[in-house]
Amino acid sequence: MRSPLTLLVLLVAAGCSSAPPSPTPAAPAAVDRADMRAHFARATAARDALLDGDVEAMKQHARWLADHGEDEAAKVRGPVHFERMKTAAQAVAEAHTLGTASRALADLATACGACHQGADARFEAPKPLLPPMKDELQAHMARHRWAVDQMWAGLVTPSEAAWARGAQSLAEAPLHAVDFALEGLDAKLVPRATTLHGLAADAAAAPAAERGAHFARIIATCGGCHRYRPAPTP
Ligand code: HEC
Ligand code: HEC
Repeated sequence: MRSPLTLLVLLVAAGCSSAPPSPTPAAPAAVDRADMRAHFARATAARDALLDGDVEAMKQHARWLADHGEDEAAKVRGPVHFERMKTAAQAVAEAHTLGTASRALADLATACGACHQGADARFEAPKPLLPPMKDELQAHMARHRWAVDQMWAGLVTPSEAAWARGAQSLAEAPLHAVDFALEGLDAKLVPRATTLHGLAADAAAAPAAERGAHFARIIATCGGCHRYRPAPTP
């Protein structure tokens, strides 16, 4: 495997053989955008599996990210972030607890965002419409999902606006005991809902460097409550 430095030396050497070194560095090789979109799809699928408590699916997607061939053109744009991304994907694939998996996944998203920021390669993340403001549990959860998507885009892209939109939306009025009773759910889960909304308020105010840690606590709280959700009726 050639290190980015070797590659650079080779490129420079190749340039020298035909012409004197030019003062302006050549534009970097094009990054495989389809491959980047595949990274986005896999990382997002791992996150959704974590939210659903589907550990096997989460690990499978993380394994893909950890073992996927190296796109040198992307790697040279941020070798440190590239390694951090691989290490984090590996950690998700090997995690034994929800907390460890959540932290590793947040670190993965942070590594994506750090490389994009450093390489001046921010991209336009999908911006789905906010689901309707209804009171039912399902509508509330659909907005939670939307909020997590926005915060995720806030980390990966990275985007201040998406992070703020997501965190603020998640901090909206929590579910109440009465909502749970109506759905036939265990009232013991209510404090988790309150915890989540407090975490979201903290996340909205968090400086960029601390957002990964906030995101990890939030997705661990979603996943932790979903463990107790009634099994879907066949
Ligand atoms: C080592 C640097 C690096 C890392 C790490 C990295 N990317 Fe990228 N990514 C880039 C660069 C550079 C571009 C811009 C490509 C361009 O505009 O030609 C890009 C572009 C993208 C795009 C836009 C593709 C398009 O259609 O234009 C997406 C989506 C993306 N990255 C997702 C991710 C995700 C998700 C991760 C982490 C799992 C990640 N990237 C990790 C360097 C990186
Ligand atoms: C206090 C417990 C609790 C917390 C915290 C929680 N959820 Fe849920 N969630 C539930 C329950 C219970 C259901 C099942 C609802 C049903 O099937 O009727 C559910 C279902 C869902 C669904 C599926 C909705 C549907 O229409 O089937 C999504 C998506 C979802 N949650 C997202 C999230 C996200 C994202 C978070 C964290 C930001 C979160 N939830 C936090 C209890 C919780």
